[in-house]
Amino acid sequence: MRALNHILVTGGAGFIGANFIRYLFQKTDFSGKIVNLDKLTYAGNPENLTDIDEAWGGKRYFFEKADICDFDAVSEILKRHEIDTLVHFAAESHVDRSIYGPGEFVSTNIQGTFTLLEAVRAFWKDRQDVLFHHVSTDEVYGSLGDEGFFFEDTPYDPRSPYSASKASSDHLVMAYWHTYGIPVTLSNCSNNYGPYQFPEKLIPLMILNIKDGKPLPVYGDGRNIRDWLFVDDHNSAVWTILKGGRPGETYNVGGENEWENIRLVHTLCEKTAATLGRDPEACKGLITYVKDRPGHDRRYAINCDKIKGELGWRQTVSFETGLDTTIAWYLANTAWIDRVRSGAYRQWIDRNYGAR
Ligand SMILES: NC(=O)c1ccc[n+]([C@@H]2O[C@H](COP(=O)([O-])OP(=O)(O)OC[C@H]3O[C@@H](n4cnc5c(N)ncnc54)[C@H](O)[C@@H]3O)[C@@H](O)[C@H]2O)c1
Repeated sequence: MRALNHILVTGGAGFIGANFIRYLFQKTDFSGKIVNLDKLTYAGNPENLTDIDEAWGGKRYFFEKADICDFDAVSEILKRHEIDTLVHFAAESHVDRSIYGPGEFVSTNIQGTFTLLEAVRAFWKDRQDVLFHHVSTDEVYGSLGDEGFFFEDTPYDPRSPYSASKASSDHLVMAYWHTYGIPVTLSNCSNNYGPYQFPEKLIPLMILNIKDGKPLPVYGDGRNIRDWLFVDDHNSAVWTILKGGRPGETYNVGGENEWENIRLVHTLCEKTAATLGRDPEACKGLITYVKDRPGHDRRYAINCDKIKGELGWRQTVSFETGLDTTIAWYLANTAWIDRVRSGAYRQWIDRNYGAR
């Protein structure tokens, strides 16, 4: 029987992690405590959870500013909060940044995951009622042609420093299961979208540039294909795995929702223009094709029959509804956007949480 009572979420101030914590408090029957361990890089924003902190702070919700590469800090937090479940979201997550500066990806994604594994190995010893869940990406599988899907046993073939660092961390996680018997599960998920995503990623970037009348940069010929999943559906998959996933298993998670980038950008132009009362064709006129990303994977498509068949998980948010929710959120939350884009935000973090 899994304890599932004191959960440590790494990277809980980022996009998916913050939505995961909110999801657990608001949409599940989870009644234990959550500790959010985050270093607060440019992508981490404790404001993403202000409502949760106000409702549960000091009672069932705790924030710890720490680096996953710091063994002593992680060990002390595991012990002090008597952690029995670790959900590992923390990572450097933007492919473009990994191309320009891969070092940070190697240290956080590989060394950081290794440090967490070492810390739980020392703390949990041979306990079997605990779980280390590692959140990973479909990008570890490489690129598909026009046909076919990624399955859990598809050989790894990462192409960017980001996906190579995630692939490496996946292997370490599985090695700790096979070598030391640490109960682990792993999920490889397709592209997420939704509220609180840092506006460097495709969907929020396009919504905000449409709003501001700025160019809409599209890589190469715009024909690259991604499989999109609303963030709450990813998080319901993680929760499903925490409750029923078998130790040592990988679960693919996806939207079964493939879109060419250019078609998606056209749809965002139409929907955002309709909300703002603008001419959609004028918005499409902002599209600017730019030099392709080096090593740009052509197509990702996930087969998620395993988690559906074995654990009964399903996507629940249609792309139509998910996009409408996301567009409405980015158009309404201008203060959040101004802050995460500004230098003043960094100063505020340093003032309230100490310099990095
Ligand atoms: N965004 C997607 O579409 C997607 C899809 C599949 C898998 N994933 C995976 O999900 C996870 C979360 O992705 P995201 O989009 O929320 O990322 P994000 O960049 O929005 O958030 C990452 C968080 O990790 C924190 N962090 C970074 N380095 C840290 C360190 N050394 N110590 C402690 N905290 C640190 C950041 O401060 C931030 O809060 C990542 O592991 C990513 O690989 C993302």
